[in-house]
Amino acid sequence: MEFVFSSLTYLLLIVLTAVLLFLIRDELKTKPVDDVVNMGLVDAPAPKAWPIIGHLYLMARYKVPYRVFDEIMADLGSVFRMDLGSVPCVVVNGLNNIREVIMIKGDHFDSRPSFRRFNQLFKGDKNNSLAFCDWSQLQKTRRELLRAHTFPNATSNMYARLDKCLKTELTEITDTIDGMADTGCVDLKNILLHSCANVFMSYFCSTRFSRTYGRFREFIRNFDDVFYEVNMGSPCDFLPGLTPLYSWHFRKIRAWSSKIREFMETEIFNARKAAWTPGTKPVDFVDNLLDAAMQPDRDDRFDLDTGLFSLEDIIGGHSAITNFIVKTLGFLVDRPDVQRRIQEEADAVIRASGSIGLADRPHMPYTEAVVYESLRLIASPIVPHLANRDTSVDGVRIPKGTTVFLNNYSLHMSTELWTNPEHYSPERFINAEGRLEKPEYFIPFSGGKRSCMGYKLVQLLSFCTIGTLLSKYTLMPVEDVSYAVPKGNLALPFVTFPFRIRPRSLKKQ
Ligand code: HEM
Repeated sequence: MEFVFSSLTYLLLIVLTAVLLFLIRDELKTKPVDDVVNMGLVDAPAPKAWPIIGHLYLMARYKVPYRVFDEIMADLGSVFRMDLGSVPCVVVNGLNNIREVIMIKGDHFDSRPSFRRFNQLFKGDKNNSLAFCDWSQLQKTRRELLRAHTFPNATSNMYARLDKCLKTELTEITDTIDGMADTGCVDLKNILLHSCANVFMSYFCSTRFSRTYGRFREFIRNFDDVFYEVNMGSPCDFLPGLTPLYSWHFRKIRAWSSKIREFMETEIFNARKAAWTPGTKPVDFVDNLLDAAMQPDRDDRFDLDTGLFSLEDIIGGHSAITNFIVKTLGFLVDRPDVQRRIQEEADAVIRASGSIGLADRPHMPYTEAVVYESLRLIASPIVPHLANRDTSVDGVRIPKGTTVFLNNYSLHMSTELWTNPEHYSPERFINAEGRLEKPEYFIPFSGGKRSCMGYKLVQLLSFCTIGTLLSKYTLMPVEDVSYAVPKGNLALPFVTFPFRIRPRSLKKQ
């Protein structure tokens, strides 16, 4: 009897298990995929929030606001929630988690948050912008059109063209400085902004402007103001209720961008458009834009208007590079030892080939290391992503619509990854054989489908400009001027630290 009972029990158990498995299988089949993805996930932990402003108060504690991320990470782990005003955000830390966002789940996170402030710059629609738009077929087209120009292959005509444009402007910079009666207090940022703008103008649009041309000066100033603006966080991005208080500021932003647009249209685009003959072989980026925009039956919304926005956007890259170079020079002004090592490399290249060009990059590893070291200190998670669906990172649930900060600042300042990370030391990027070495956890330009479109231009223009400047001059501080270069931030105000410049001559070997 006992045997029969236990056999029956077993039979019952087997039948019940089978039914249960069947039901679960059915349940899994009918559940939406997102629910299945969400199974076993945990909610992102968060520090204590204040009413209305959420966690914004925490960001205000430090000079570099991202520093607070380290503090929270130590308590809550590497993926945590921060509600910045009314904007739900998640901060993602650590190389593997950042890779999960930009590579493994790149499609889940390829959108951008909407900040009204930035919409002002692009006729009220962030999707006109290269960096602040959501992912779309249009963005794919724009990135593809740009690639040949911003990542020129070393054997291509584009590369030779860039080299030529750059050399012309570098000569112009040194002629300008040499022509100055007093080099005791030089506004290098202003000089470099004009030259870098002309590298971009001649490379992308086959035209350049005199540094004395008033409209060009105004154009450069407007771009630099825009660059400063987009690099600064603002409470109105997170607290829409404050918008009425910013109406004057928004008007100012709109005025900058409409003046930039007017310059591009009247000084470049309109004439090129009128002269364009379909079928002509494109020479520069403007040709490529016109060629693409005039193709009939496009299904990606790419037209002359979006083409002009892309052109403006990419020309604005000159301001990013100039600010970066001036910040680097700010780091070097009190470091004659670093200047001397760049000068040694530059002198050797100039002795061999007369001037520094793009092809000399492999011969100047220390100068490149200086570029890397400055990038390490000033790069930041200023361009956030946005989850376009319910998803996860490292097992933490990320609801659709969450703004995602990829915390490269902490990655670049981690005491576990870098020796003495607060210290400026280009040597950390040079290996025992004297060659440049880039650790995988150094990601100033991010990666994946929304990675920086300008990083090669940053690297090429920076090492050439810094090398050429230091081959001709030694930089010294101007008395009573502070050279505290802001970290975790790319921009400097338009008027910033000047330099004392002492001409030098090529050292004989
Ligand atoms: C030191 C200078 C620069 C740094 C550190 C930098 C860094 C970055 C970073 C971190 C992103 C966001 C990547 C992501 O969302 O995952 C980005 C996006 C972008 N950058 Fe740069 N950038 C620099 C200069 C430039 C320049 C000079 C240009 C243009 C010539 C440029 C063009 C872009 C564009 C178009 C995007 C948006 C790409 C997209 O969303 O599809 N950047 N940059």
